[in-house]
Amino acid sequence: MMDLARRVAEAADLVTVALDELLPRAEGPESRLTEAMRYAALSEGKRLRTFFALETGRMFDLDERSVLRAACALECIHAYSLIHDDLPCMDDDDMRRGRPTVHIQYDEMTAVLAGDALQSAAFEILAHPDTHPDGGVRAELVSRLAVAAGARGMVGGQMIDMLGVREDLGGVARMQRLKTGALIACAFELPLAIAHAQDFERHALMAFAHDLGLAYQIVDDLLDAEGDAALMGKAVGKDAEAGKTTFVTLLGVDAAKQRLGLLKTQTKSHLDPFGPRAEFLRASVDFVLERRQ
Ligand code: IPE
Ligand code: IPE
Ligand code: MG
Ligand code: MG
Ligand code: MG
Repeated sequence: MMDLARRVAEAADLVTVALDELLPRAEGPESRLTEAMRYAALSEGKRLRTFFALETGRMFDLDERSVLRAACALECIHAYSLIHDDLPCMDDDDMRRGRPTVHIQYDEMTAVLAGDALQSAAFEILAHPDTHPDGGVRAELVSRLAVAAGARGMVGGQMIDMLGVREDLGGVARMQRLKTGALIACAFELPLAIAHAQDFERHALMAFAHDLGLAYQIVDDLLDAEGDAALMGKAVGKDAEAGKTTFVTLLGVDAAKQRLGLLKTQTKSHLDPFGPRAEFLRASVDFVLERRQ
């Protein structure tokens, strides 16, 4: 477990340094925008999507530079999604990653624009020849991230979340799959695209990503219900306050925890085809499920 914690921390350092290099530092009147982009993207996230991407890259012996750039793009989309998620018109949150949210630190206009520009930055990074020498691979990376981020992925899930239309478990599961699951799955899809992986490998990892994403959101909902705001660096109790239907409101805390226990074994078993090569991904399941922040 210690080894895993070290690898997660290393992944976080690697992506923060790389993003620092890649994000613009414009001078001039637009520097308010670039500062806000950097404030959000370089703040201390867990960087779990980066960790998943890098570990998958290692499993397939991929060039780390390619995978790291893909992870940077994914973190830009994730950071943009959080900036917009926190806006007053959405979840209206004041704290994120232990710091004031972007619209509090700057203002709403800057927060909207910083999110927009981080989204563009993601695709600029993927499309650059430094990401991969083969233009076909770059096009596939762009396309996979676009689908995961858009109406059939994260943004679609955010719409359902905001409308509050789902009433049953199936509806919440679908919403989660789009809102959180799509970008988590992308952490595996991008290295899979670089690896030209075989079908059975892709299917196994997608099944793993699916269950992992589900587990991830159940934990997020549980932490919202009974987590520690100081540890998490964001407010808790917001879902109940907003009257949201989540795994926890539908199942109750105990049944949600029970479901997590079942998911743990199921999630890991998807990695069986990879044997010992998947050691760290396997261990990351416990890490994700036992997180307190
Ligand atoms: C928070 O994502 C929002 C969800 C998708 C549940 P993370 O839990 O990955 O947040 P950071 O990146 O560590 O801040
Ligand atoms: C947000 O989900 C998921 C995104 C696509 C940003 P939440 O609204 O549950 O995330 P937190 O709890 O604010 O981090
Ligand atoms: Mg939200
Ligand atoms: Mg939120
Ligand atoms: Mg939440």
